[in-house]
Amino acid sequence: MSDVTAATAPATLPPGVRTPRPRELTDALSREILDLKKKLNAVILAHNYQTGDIQDVADYVGDSLGLAQQAAKTPADVIVFCGVHFMAETAKILNPGKIVILPDKDAGCSLEESCPGSKLKALQDTNPNFYTVAYINCSAEVKALSDVICTSGNAVKIVQSVPADRDLLFVPDENLGAWVTEQTGRPMTLWKGNCYVHVEWTHASILRIRQQYPGAPVVAHPECTKAVRMLADEVCSTEKMVAYCKSTAAKEIIIATEAGMLHRLQKECPNKIFIPAPTDSCRCNECRFMKMNTLEKVRDCMADLHPRLELPPSIIERARRPIERMLEVSAR
Ligand code: 13P
Ligand code: SF4
Repeated sequence: MSDVTAATAPATLPPGVRTPRPRELTDALSREILDLKKKLNAVILAHNYQTGDIQDVADYVGDSLGLAQQAAKTPADVIVFCGVHFMAETAKILNPGKIVILPDKDAGCSLEESCPGSKLKALQDTNPNFYTVAYINCSAEVKALSDVICTSGNAVKIVQSVPADRDLLFVPDENLGAWVTEQTGRPMTLWKGNCYVHVEWTHASILRIRQQYPGAPVVAHPECTKAVRMLADEVCSTEKMVAYCKSTAAKEIIIATEAGMLHRLQKECPNKIFIPAPTDSCRCNECRFMKMNTLEKVRDCMADLHPRLELPPSIIERARRPIERMLEVSAR
């Protein structure tokens, strides 16, 4: 490990508030990371919710679908996955022979936590005609129990591809599932999980910001509740948000998703003004799991090749097919 260290936040700061790292330290860390990348023949994949400094050193920044597609085709020897645990698991399932490392192995997800494999299996056993569509925000064990995986970017297409005579079981996000049913007209049994960040926006909090910026469209992630989605001009995955914001004539846009998205949007659309939609409480639009990763931890995991993502071969074997099926349907 090198001697470039993080600026530590004083204990008096509220949770989630970080002291900005001096610019020279960020630059030194970024240089170290780029040197390690060359040495390891590594690729750095980062989700749109990562902090700006991590996004800026990544080879690819995108949504869960884009990240899975990149992982499926990378020629690199080492994948540095800057996102949450289930995303790194997906990369490992697609690349069992490669080294997959992640800055913080404890970066989980409330959706993943809501759906243990044993409980899903018990529900599946109640109906042999279930066809299980699992949102990618779930464990490798749940993926191994599923027929096909989807992301918010392709969920509508995936559900439309399921044979009409099958009973659809959608896990683990009830809000995304309800939105997909609205889009496709296909009824589904929904697992009762949610994203603890996206359910923080409320009808009242969106109405208030709309009144403040009457000309600004509202863009919301489908993990938001129906009460929020019904006020949105566009409901889409984080990657589709970039395309929408580039193409709309609006100069000011209200964004209802995790705060990391604003860095990406501002970079892609420098002449537009992005307004983070307020929640009813303070600073609730940061995912504590996504924010466990720091530039220092990215450097350290590359220097140590640790923590490393490992999965039992039997899980890799069973989870791979539903992910490949998703990639096939997505490419059609
Ligand atoms: P996207 O696939 O739209 O990037 O969303 C991932 C996620 O975790 C949303 O909370
Ligand atoms: Fe999971 Fe929500 Fe965090 Fe996305 S934002 S990783 S769905 S807890």
